[in-house]
Amino acid sequence: MQGQSWTKIKEILEGNKTGEEVNIRGWIYRKRSSGGIIFILVRDSTGVIQATIKKGDIPEEEFEKAERALIESSIKIKGIVKEDKRAPGGYEIKVNKFEVVNFAEPFPITEDHSEEFLLDVRHLWLRSRKLTEVMKLKAKVLRLIREWFDENDFYEVTPSVITLNAAEGGATVFSFDYFGQKAFLSQTAQMYLEALIFSLERVWSLTPSFRAEKSRTRKHLTEYWHLEAEEAWVDNEGNMKIQEELVSYVCQNIAKVAKDELEYLGRDVEDLKVIEPPFKRIKYKDAIKKLQDKGFDIEWGDDFGAPHERALVEGEDKPIFVTHFPVESKAFYMKISPDGKTVECADMLAPEGYGELIGGSERSEDIDSMIARLKADGAKIENYEWYFDLRRYGSVPHSGFGLGLERLVMWIAKLDHIRDAIPFPRTVTRVYP
Ligand code: 4AD
Ligand code: MG
Repeated sequence: MQGQSWTKIKEILEGNKTGEEVNIRGWIYRKRSSGGIIFILVRDSTGVIQATIKKGDIPEEEFEKAERALIESSIKIKGIVKEDKRAPGGYEIKVNKFEVVNFAEPFPITEDHSEEFLLDVRHLWLRSRKLTEVMKLKAKVLRLIREWFDENDFYEVTPSVITLNAAEGGATVFSFDYFGQKAFLSQTAQMYLEALIFSLERVWSLTPSFRAEKSRTRKHLTEYWHLEAEEAWVDNEGNMKIQEELVSYVCQNIAKVAKDELEYLGRDVEDLKVIEPPFKRIKYKDAIKKLQDKGFDIEWGDDFGAPHERALVEGEDKPIFVTHFPVESKAFYMKISPDGKTVECADMLAPEGYGELIGGSERSEDIDSMIARLKADGAKIENYEWYFDLRRYGSVPHSGFGLGLERLVMWIAKLDHIRDAIPFPRTVTRVYP
C-alpha cells in the first residue's frame, strides 16, 4: 500500500465516498466478531468508522491477523464504502485488504479506572474521545485568538521564561540553580512585554507560566499556558474593552467552528453565542457588599475564594469584571487609584463559577511606590532595575492582561477539572508522565 492516497474517515462519514474503494489508516478502537465476520471500529484523527471483514473476502492470513490484532493496533485497510443505517455514523467499509502496522500489546486502559490511574497513563488516555475533542477545541481557540490579535494590530512576541523576577510574588515562584545564581521559572511574561511596547506599542505572547500553587483546586495547575497582552496608551477601562472584545470573538466563533467538539463535550453553543461586549463591571468594594448581603462572612481586604466567585456571577450569562481591588491584595506593578487605597485593575470572572479567566491592570509609573511594595514582598530590588528603566526613558500610560488558556478552555468546554484542558497536567502531586 505504498504511494497511494489515504482517505480521512470524516470524508466517508460526510457521505462523499459512498460506493467507492478507499484506503484508510488508523487504530483499532473497538472490535468484536460473530459468525466469520470481524467488526472493527477504526479511528483516525477525524473520526471513527466501522469496518467489516468477512472470512473468505480477504486472504486467509490477513483474516487471521485481523483476528489476532488487539485494540489500539495500528492498521491500514482497503475496502468499499457502503451506507449502513445500523453502523455507528451510518457508513461502513467492506474490507478487501487488511494490514497490521503494529500489533498492540493488551491495552492497559479498559473501563472503570480511577482518575489517578488515568493520569498515570495519560500518554495513552490522550487517545480517548473526550481528550481528543478537548485538544481539537483548544487548537481552534488558539487559532481564533491569533486571528483576533492579528486583526487588531498586535505583534506576537517571544519573551523569556527564565527570569530573576517574581512579578506575581515570591510565595508561588519556582526557583532553580542557574549556574550558581538563583533564578525563577516565569510566572508571567508581563514585564518583558512592557519592555516591548516601547517599540511595538501593542504586543501579545503565549508562554508557559509557572506557579508553585500548593492549593489543590480544580482550577490550578503548576504549569499553564499564559496568553498575555500589553498595550501602550491604554488605561484600565481601555484594557477591559480589549479583553471583552477578544473573549467575545473567541466565544462567538468557536460556536461556529467547533460545533462537533462542543456538542460532544456537552456545551450548548447558545451559551457561547450570547457572549458579547460589554461585560458588567463591579468594583471590589461593591462586590464585597454584595457578598455580605448574600450572607458571606467576608470583609474589605479578603481574597475571593471559589464560592465567592460563583456567587458574584450568579444569574450572569456573560463574564463580569471585578475592578479596583485593595492595593495590598495585588501585585507591585499595578497603578494606584486616586483614592490611594485601590488599584486600577480588573479580574474577569467567567459565568457558572469557572472563576478568574483574566487578571489585568493599568501599570504603575511610580518607581518609589513599586519599590516599597516589592520590599514588602521581600524581593531583591536590584533585579528590578531594568524594569524601572522603562519608567525612566519615555514612559507612557499602559495596561495589559493575562489570560489562563486552560481556564478559558475549561469554561468553553464545560470541563469539571482544569487538568483535562492540558495534555500533561502538572499539579502539586504530579509530574509524570
Ligand atoms: O492574575 P494573574 O496572576 O496575572 C498575571 O500574571 C499578570 N502579570 C498578567 C498580566 O497582566 N500580563 O494570572 C493571569 C491569569 C489568571 O487570571 C488565570 O486565568 C491564569 O492566569 N492563572 C492560572 N491558570 C491555571 N493555573 C494557575 N495556577 C493559574 N494562575 C493564574
Ligand atoms: Mg489574578
